Amino acid sequence: NLSGIIMGVETSCDDTCVALLTTEGKILSSEVSSQYAIHNPFGGIKPNHAARAHEANLPFVMGNPFPSNFFSQSVESALKKAGMKDLSLVSGVAVTRGPGLRGSLEVGLAFVKQLCREHNLPLLPVHHLEAHALTVRLPQRETSTTSGREAEPVEFPYITVLVSGGHSQLLLCEGVMKYRLLGGTVDDSLGESYDKVARLLGMTYEEGGKGLEKLAVEGDPQRYKLPRPLYKVKKSCDWSFSGLKNAVNLLLASIREEEGIPKEANMVQTSRKTAADIAACFQNTALEHIITSTERGIDYCTINLDVQPESVVVCGGVASNERLRGMLREMAKRKQMKIHYPPVRLCTDNAVMVAWAAIEGMRAGNIDIIRPEEARFDEV
Ligand code: KG4
Ligand code: ZN
Repeated sequence: NLSGIIMGVETSCDDTCVALLTTEGKILSSEVSSQYAIHNPFGGIKPNHAARAHEANLPFVMGNPFPSNFFSQSVESALKKAGMKDLSLVSGVAVTRGPGLRGSLEVGLAFVKQLCREHNLPLLPVHHLEAHALTVRLPQRETSTTSGREAEPVEFPYITVLVSGGHSQLLLCEGVMKYRLLGGTVDDSLGESYDKVARLLGMTYEEGGKGLEKLAVEGDPQRYKLPRPLYKVKKSCDWSFSGLKNAVNLLLASIREEEGIPKEANMVQTSRKTAADIAACFQNTALEHIITSTERGIDYCTINLDVQPESVVVCGGVASNERLRGMLREMAKRKQMKIHYPPVRLCTDNAVMVAWAAIEGMRAGNIDIIRPEEARFDEV
């Protein structure tokens, strides 16, 4: 077991993240460099650009050959904010080994390998989804803006609704490295469907799900009837979102035709009320679908697995959605369960969760503490 300070590095997608954490779980610093400015013009992530940006952003410690005023220099600023001059107090480096974009993962891993070699530190490979799922067990979480019971320690077993841009899974977490997949998406992730609908309405990649949520607040969720995904499948805890997105696309086409709005016109700018109603209807349908499967998953645990999870936990980027939090809170009340959500900045990708998952793994005695040359990445 390592004691002292663990550095976390996360580069699975388009955020370059570095954090420093004590092994007790105290957050010393957490840097997140977003790449919106790079990907916005493409309306989505360009994997090659993402990898290059991670490359430019991370390697100051190795003598970054690309001085850049565009990015914060992640490792340097993480050390600085933690009040540290160098890596002498760091006892290990945790890094996301996957799943994620191949190029992005490779850059992060190559960087951490070199860092560990140069400073003679052990490398701690972490699964990205496990990191999301364990965030809620961090002892020193700041309180979130939404009321809830965030301050209480979350004990196993709990149900995790893991909804991000890359993944959507319903998990029963019984312990560190003990997860049961109850259901998941059969096509798009929830975040992806938010992003796609946001784009259909004319929003930028940066606005994405967050922008859609904001717009939906102004809308009437009853105005349009959208098909409920997997409505006829009564025994599954799975999710599906691509049909819903298609339905929004078709609805949008017919509204454009009726109202004489050209195909290229930005819906949010041309007819904000209509765009807001569509956003609200989409959100309502998607989130009700999330709740139905989650409730079914909880019943499955009680009836078929004889496990009574005490709490519901929501994590991943979409977990910052206030409407989702509210609906899950209602559901938890019905089920007489507790509800927990990490603060927003720990819901979206960050390196605190990566370092913390490594610490949990060490405590439970089931993480590989390896030499850097042994590190491999997983793409899926
Ligand atoms: O966990 P995350 O930062 O990255 C992945 O691992 O994918 O999640 C990003 C996703 C994006 O799809 C983004 O649109 C979505 O989370 N998202 C939201 C909200 N904030 C972020 N979706 C709905 N409502 C939000 N408030
Ligand atoms: Zn993520």
